[in-house]
Amino acid sequence: MAVIIRHKVGVIGWPVEHSISPQMHNAAFQALGLTDWFYDRIAIPPDIVGHSLRTLRDEGGYVGLNVTVPHKQAVMRYVRPDERAQALGAANTIDFRDNTATNTDVAGLIDDLTANDVLLVNTHVVVIGAGGAARAAVYGLVHAGAKVTVVNRTPQKAQVMLADLAVSAGIQGVAVRSLEEVAQDEIGLIVNCTPVGMWPNEDACPWPDDLPFPQGITIYDMIYRPRRTRLMEKAEANGGRAIGGLGMLVRQGAASFAIWTGIQPPVEVMFEAAEAALTEKT
Ligand code: ATR
Repeated sequence: MAVIIRHKVGVIGWPVEHSISPQMHNAAFQALGLTDWFYDRIAIPPDIVGHSLRTLRDEGGYVGLNVTVPHKQAVMRYVRPDERAQALGAANTIDFRDNTATNTDVAGLIDDLTANDVLLVNTHVVVIGAGGAARAAVYGLVHAGAKVTVVNRTPQKAQVMLADLAVSAGIQGVAVRSLEEVAQDEIGLIVNCTPVGMWPNEDACPWPDDLPFPQGITIYDMIYRPRRTRLMEKAEANGGRAIGGLGMLVRQGAASFAIWTGIQPPVEVMFEAAEAALTEKT
């Protein structure tokens, strides 16, 4: 029997071939018996983002989209961003039915930390990085009640990020410091929001080897390829705990899925599909 696809969703990016979101979402559609839904990858070069959004909505029949690098900021002017997307200046989920957009990266991180029983209220959290991922992390962690400090290779970029978040989201009281400084503090959690240590540069680590690593802390590394980074190994070697970023990817996807379908997807099914897709690549 031929399956008729009535509801299309997908991810736009450039490049986008590496995305494992299709495997994740299609596995969830299948598990729920939503056989008339389908998720695909759409490679869109940066100069035609606006035109492409219109075409995918008006002629392509797409219900909505995920948006990945480098389009998360660029799509903002073509949609109606909610408060969260506006605060971050970036959207990763569009619903074409009302042309609204949001950012589910925040929920992805906070939901995964919560699912892993990581305490955030009044915890001193160090965010490493000052790009889009770090912005989402600072926003989510501050709203979850954590005391946040930012460390970045280029401290000025971290200052700009915090000045932006102060204006767009009223976020105050986040300091920019060096790793050497925070190494002396009582830290509960470090969230790595940089690509340092990501495949194929797996030997790299955002925490230098000559700086003593804090004892008994938790690392959340947004990197999911490899599943275990050198930073994660360091945390465990020093009596701490380490969580990789695959759960965040899955949970931001699950939040998008719920927006389009109105159904909470089975997170374990999406996790297994993402894991299988990654294993296939390596
Ligand atoms: P994203 O939007 O995915 O977060 P990004 O905007 O490219 O990505 O930001 C990447 C972050 O990783 C930045 O904070 C960057 O530091 P700079 O602000 O100094 O550029 C950080 N980063 C990237 N490569 C790095 C490296 N080799 N060492 C230290 N930090 C690095």
